[in-house]
Amino acid sequence: MNIILMGLPGAGKGTQADEIIEKYAIPHISTGDMFRAAIKDGTELGLKAKSYMDQGALVPDEVTIGIVRERLSQADCKEGFLLDGFPRTVPQAEALDNILADLGKSIEHTINIEVPKEDLIARLTGRRICKTCGTSYHLIFNPPQEEGKCDKDGGELYVRADDNPETVTNRLEVNMTQAQPLLDFYKAKGVLTNINGQQDIKVVFEDIEALLKGNRS
Ligand code: AP5
Ligand code: MG
Ligand code: ZN
Repeated sequence: MNIILMGLPGAGKGTQADEIIEKYAIPHISTGDMFRAAIKDGTELGLKAKSYMDQGALVPDEVTIGIVRERLSQADCKEGFLLDGFPRTVPQAEALDNILADLGKSIEHTINIEVPKEDLIARLTGRRICKTCGTSYHLIFNPPQEEGKCDKDGGELYVRADDNPETVTNRLEVNMTQAQPLLDFYKAKGVLTNINGQQDIKVVFEDIEALLKGNRS
């Protein structure tokens, strides 16, 4: 199953992706995670991405498209993949169409998790992430059993570099500008499904599962 997961920063893409990839055994391809890994490893890609990410700006399309093309060509994407946070601009969506055509693949589901802007700031500034496995928690909405520690592996929880209030505001603005044309692009193709992301994490996943099982459109 080939899936695109869209939504503004904090909509719950990563949270839902964890559930989807476990259930459907497909790789999770998050451009944000790939950039963060590259920054951590000090690679050339990381150097390119860092200044944009620190400001809450988008990494240039040509850089982002290149890493997705390479990633989707890998063998583990043969039986399916979940794209999280890509595409984010219309040029990226057009490039994805070309990449998929070259690889003989197509997208089955484009899922847009909808959450009003007012909720997103609180979600992002209260987010905590496990250093070991990357699982997202939230101080109020999804707290770990033990404060500061991951439920899965006891890993230390940290605040993402771009989750400070100033960068969050900019990320939301930047992403909101790009969101509507992108949604229109997929709506025109007839493959877009909006999911109400303003529900309990489990309920959001139930809605996504129903869609993937073909029980809702
Ligand atoms: P990326 O890492 O993709 O960040 P983002 O789009 O800003 O989205 P987030 O990861 O912050 O949010 P999410 O939707 O995954 O939410 P989560 O599940 O964690 O990108 C980072 C940067 O990389 C970009 O700013 C850009 O610079 C660059 N980049 C990446 N892709 C790019 C691209 N394609 N083109 C150009 N540049 C690119 O949840 C958030 C919080 O809410 C958590 O605390 C969670 O516990 C909580 N939560 C989740 N669901 C719920 C719920 N239902 N109810 C209550 N709380 C919830
Ligand atoms: Mg994410
Ligand atoms: Zn963990």
